[in-house]
Amino acid sequence: ARPLYMDCDTGIDDAVALAYLVATPSVDLRGIGTVSGNTDAGTAARSTVDLLALLDRSDIPVAVGARDPLRDRFGGGAPAVHGGNGTGDVELPRTAAEPVTEAADAMLIRLAHEHPGELHVLATGPLTNLARALRQDPALPGLVAGVTVMGGAALVPGNRTPVAEANILHDPEAAAEVLAAAWEVTLVPLDVTMDHRLDEDQRQQLAAVDHPALPPLAAMLERYAEFYTGVFGRPLSALHDPLAAALAAGTVEPALAPRVTVQVDTTDGPGRGQTICDLRGRFTGYPAAAGARCRVVLELAEDFAPHLLNTLRRLAPA
Ligand code: BDR
Ligand code: CA
Repeated sequence: ARPLYMDCDTGIDDAVALAYLVATPSVDLRGIGTVSGNTDAGTAARSTVDLLALLDRSDIPVAVGARDPLRDRFGGGAPAVHGGNGTGDVELPRTAAEPVTEAADAMLIRLAHEHPGELHVLATGPLTNLARALRQDPALPGLVAGVTVMGGAALVPGNRTPVAEANILHDPEAAAEVLAAAWEVTLVPLDVTMDHRLDEDQRQQLAAVDHPALPPLAAMLERYAEFYTGVFGRPLSALHDPLAAALAAGTVEPALAPRVTVQVDTTDGPGRGQTICDLRGRFTGYPAAAGARCRVVLELAEDFAPHLLNTLRRLAPA
């Protein structure tokens, strides 16, 4: 199974992504780090620990990561999208399990050294922990098999500003460092994640799965769909983080993912947080460009929601 470190800001879709990974046998989730984004890193860790208990996977260690972005102070989460607690104000049953004392960046560095050339890194939140780990350990890029990042907007509008996506805008300095480092990054931007949505019928099917983690996840998704009704005109849930999780797991394949140069705008103007992807090769099939090491996923080979549903159904006893 593929060893994986997940870095997240739990987060409704982060929670669904975590359940997806637990339900995916080809993934060996070695550790989870949290970061501030949808909520603060401590609250995200509490929710993650409680969700893992519901999933009967309290053996997976959860490390609290950076509260503040590299340059700025954490300015509050995204209550309009993810509720006041990150999980759509759904209260998960509180367990006795606790996050570990190791910090998220230290956990990432340790796991990379324990699995040289094999560890996959999935980031479904702001990139602060990854950037801090890079600053501490210059060997890190050479040890990691691949980094999959949910974030950015290549050819479509942003979701926090006209040009910036939430995870990148939260810490553009960190995103710039992570995307400039000498490792293989797969960027999973809004271009593809906004096209893969869970509808009402599929959400109700999830709620009916015979496993204690599914009703709270479905309740979170109901709250999430309320927000997205304002975006799509219908109660749909954009599957940002679960889709990135599946790409990191290798359980779905992109249909179009050119390898291009990506820069992050770290200025303080209206472009802050924009992911500037050099997609000028689009009319000639994106010829290989020297130094371009970021794969930007623009299209998927299949409809993702049915695959997600089928995978989560596996959590129910046979
Ligand atoms: C991303 O931002 C967060 O709100 C979601 O959890 C996802 O990771 C989408 O822009
Ligand atoms: Ca997230």
